Amino acid sequence: MRRLAVLTSGGDAPGMNAAIRAVVEQGLHHQIEVVGVQHGFKGLVEGEYKKIGINDLSHAIRRGGTILYSARYPEFREVEIQKKAIKKMEDEGIEGLIVIGGDGSFQGALALTKLGFPAIGIPGTIDNDIPGTEYTIGFDSAMSAAIEAIDKISDTAASHNRTFVVEVMGRNAGDIAIWAGVAVGADAIIIPEEEFYIGDIARRVNTSLCHGKDHAIIVLAEGVMGVEEFIKEYKKEAPNQSVRGVNLSHIQRGGNPTGRDRVFATLMGAKAVDLILHGQSGIFVGITNEELSVCDIVETLTKSQHKVRDDLYQINRTLTDRY
Ligand code: ADP
Ligand code: F6P
Repeated sequence: MRRLAVLTSGGDAPGMNAAIRAVVEQGLHHQIEVVGVQHGFKGLVEGEYKKIGINDLSHAIRRGGTILYSARYPEFREVEIQKKAIKKMEDEGIEGLIVIGGDGSFQGALALTKLGFPAIGIPGTIDNDIPGTEYTIGFDSAMSAAIEAIDKISDTAASHNRTFVVEVMGRNAGDIAIWAGVAVGADAIIIPEEEFYIGDIARRVNTSLCHGKDHAIIVLAEGVMGVEEFIKEYKKEAPNQSVRGVNLSHIQRGGNPTGRDRVFATLMGAKAVDLILHGQSGIFVGITNEELSVCDIVETLTKSQHKVRDDLYQINRTLTDRY
């Protein structure tokens, strides 16, 4: 193999650039040229190819977002479009592709593999929702961004003895909510994976306020419902509380990656290159027990489901159930 391509797809995530850098540098280490594909699978089909050199990477490791840009491109589900992408890559002398993205993007990589073109995935999404890996690039940074924002909100919440409902991202997964919620000592954490009763949450917050707590924080995962809708229902159960809401939205997806995101992205980027050069395809690199691991895309995505950590959910429940 003499030429590889790398792309980022789906929602951008802090640390994707560190992974791109590792792919390029590891490629150069093996005397392989790495081509960057801009705008994900859309750019793959439309020929947005750009050779990446060391000069393009000077500041990449510490920057959020993705220097290759990203896109959502539903058309890539069509086999004819996938074949077009392969033809484009072959015309450019590209012999393998590394896809940095979430499980949707892995399906794109898998489709290419099934058509005979080597492709490997690296998990990059703030949602941390990919089965088979304990870690996805960007989750740690997004969680830290959420914590920083909620800490700020807590200052103003306390000054006015208010209850704040903070909506965080995660698509269908509650990971950002549960980790950030435990880290800020939230009074309640509401995630799509667990049943909840608004009346019970209002009762728990009221008890805390009666015990002298000067404010309350409720962390709400976006997969449950929107913050405005929640507050409308919550106020019916807690008419005595002064309630405000905030949706942290894309603030969580921006900013410099944490050390953990940079380090794991670097390890995974280099590993993906080694694997593809050894003829592997249809797999993704992950992290298990803090070590690099390798998963088959079909096996993992069809047979296992991502789970949030139950111990984190339970500790929050226990510590906030006051009498
Ligand atoms: P993520 O990768 O973060 O899960 P998406 O689910 O939006 O984000 O997927 C990103 C992109 O991956 C899609 O816009 C599309 O180009 C491609 N993709 C998703 N699902 C498939 C599929 N079943 N087959 C081929 N490509 C897919
Ligand atoms: O998958 C990452 C993510 O940020 C989710 O948490 C969120 O639901 C979604 O992307 C938002 O997508 P967009 O940026 O396209 O609005």
